[in-house]
This record gives sequence, C-alpha cells and structure tokens, in this order.
Amino acid sequence: MALPRIRVHGPELITRAERVGLARTLGQTEQSLDLSEPAHVSGWKAIGTDGTLQGLIVDDALRPAMVGQGAWAASTSEVFAALYTSAASAWTARGIWTHQITVRDGDPIETAVASLGFGHQQAYGAIRTQAAGHKDAGGARLLARHELRRVLPLVPLISTHQAKSPVFAPRSDRFLRELDASFLDWAATDEVVVFGHVEGDEGDLVGFLAIDTAESVPEIVLAAVAPIARGRGIGGALMQAANAWAAARGIPKLRVDWRTTNPDAQRFWMRAGVVVSARRWSRTIDPEPM
Ligand SMILES: CC(C)(COP(=O)(O)OP(=O)(O)OC[C@H]1O[C@@H](n2cnc3c(N)ncnc32)[C@H](O)[C@@H]1OP(=O)(O)O)[C@@H](O)C(=O)NCCC(=O)NCCS
Repeated sequence: MALPRIRVHGPELITRAERVGLARTLGQTEQSLDLSEPAHVSGWKAIGTDGTLQGLIVDDALRPAMVGQGAWAASTSEVFAALYTSAASAWTARGIWTHQITVRDGDPIETAVASLGFGHQQAYGAIRTQAAGHKDAGGARLLARHELRRVLPLVPLISTHQAKSPVFAPRSDRFLRELDASFLDWAATDEVVVFGHVEGDEGDLVGFLAIDTAESVPEIVLAAVAPIARGRGIGGALMQAANAWAAARGIPKLRVDWRTTNPDAQRFWMRAGVVVSARRWSRTIDPEPM
C-alpha cells in the first residue's frame, strides 16, 4: 500500500467548521459526520502535505456509552487506514476493544474498512413517502392516546428479538430496553405517533409501528408484529398507514435504522423501499496477545 502523503494529528479538537468543510469537500451528507454533535468533539485529523484536511475520525469519548465509535470521513482508503491506525492505537491503550465507525453507503473506502476487520451491523436509511401511493392499509390505523396501553405487550418483542441469534444485540440498544419500561410515557408525548393493527373478534392488537416526529425528518423508531402473525402482510400494512399519514402532512421522508444482523428487519425495510444512506461498522479485537 502506498504511503499516504498526509500526516495524522490528534487526538485534538475538531471544530464543527472543519467537519462541515470536509463533508462538503468529499460530497458527503453532513449526517455522516455526526454534525448534530456539539462543537467540542475530539479526534484525529489527516492533514495533506499542502495543509488541507484530508480526513478525520471523531473520538466519541464525550459520550461514555459510545467510546470507540467514530464518525469518519477520508479522501482515500490510505487516508482512512492511517487515521484508523492512530485511533485504534489510542482506543486499545484505553482498553477499548470494540471500535465502531459510521460509513456512508457506497463510499469507495468501504472495502478498506472491511479489510481492516470491520463488519457492518447497523444500517441507516429513509423511505420516500410520496412513493407510497394510496393503497389500502388493511387493519392498520393511527392509534388514539387512550389505546396506547394495548401496545404494551408488544413492546418487549423488539428487545427480545434483538437479543436472539442471529441478531445478538442485547446490550447495545439500551434505548430499546429502557423503552420497554417507559413506552407509555414516551408514546403519549405530542411528538410520537403510533400505528396499530387490530385483528380478530377480540380486537387484539397484533402489530405496531411508532414514529418520532421531533426531528426534521421523522424517524420510525419501533416496529413489531406478534410472532404468530408475521409473514401475513401486517408489517406492510402498518408501513402503508404510516406512509399515507406522513404524505398527507407533507412529510416527504421517514428515517429508519436497523441491525443488519436482523434478517427479518433487513428484508422488511428493503421491501418497504428504504434507501440506505450509511452503515455502522464494528470491529471487536481479542485483547489476548497472539
Ligand atoms: C420486521 C417485522 C415487523 C415484519 O412484520 P411482518 O408482519 O412479518 O411483515 P410482512 O408480513 O408485511 O412482510 C414479511 C414477509 O411476509 C410476506 N408476506 C406478506 N403478506 C403475505 C401473504 N399474505 N402471504 C405470504 N407472504 C406474505 C412479505 O412478502 C414479506 O416477505 P419477504 O420477507 O420475503 O420480504 C416482523 O418480522 C417483526 O416484528 N420482527 C421482529 C421485530 C423486529 O425485528 N422489528 C424491526 C426492528 S428494526
């Protein structure tokens, strides 16, 4: 591998202006560099011999739960490898053996990331609501606030499913575990809309989908169908109801993210028309010396 004509600096402060500037230079969406983060982000910078910023890895040490997770951007695979060499050295010296990096979909350096031992685990994408058309959403409909209690038995389905093989994501999605306990408080807020699918004489709720509208692009945060009712189009009907609801309000896109190690979710979101924008890649190093 040719040595990059860059020098790696850090860890040091990376300003928001540097992150925005690099994202623009590389034609990346600003989200891929985690620009929602505050100005006080530290990390490693690759500076070219001409003094230009060629790449960076953000060290998320400010958020203890996400230490070792770096948003990054680099002009070439070599720049990425040089940056990661510095970041990995510092992370392992701090006892951090799991490294996570968010990479824009289709970025030419994905291959370099994979060859450094990373595999992707989480995908981020969006669905265009205009494409939904006006199909019938079957038994799926928006739930009123007084009906939200009926969703409670379905909420733990997600964390239970995530904990199983082959997903194996029991601890990292802390949000989901906390949500099992606090779903009602969360779902009853003005920002959240919940769709449900009612079935049978008893009117059992067999599936739900919840959207958080707080951000400019609303996010599908939760979706689950009772195991016995899966594969019958209920998830699809919930998605249609959500699409129609969003389109009627002039919301052009809905965001969603999921574990790529969750085959049900992977197939379901692809079928729903999600366009992937980025993936979170992860590498866990065995700390035992060879
Ligand atoms: C992901 C999930 C919500 C999908 O719900 P679902 O009701 O099974 O979804 P659908 O029935 O609409 O679609 C699933 C499959 O059934 C098929 N299907 C739908 N209606 C059908 C019918 N009448 N006859 C035969 N197959 C049918 C769909 O084509 C789809 O096939 P595919 O997997 O090959 O694409 C559900 O699997 C689930 O709850 N999983 C566990 C929790 C989870 O992973 N949630 C997502 C977290 S991000």
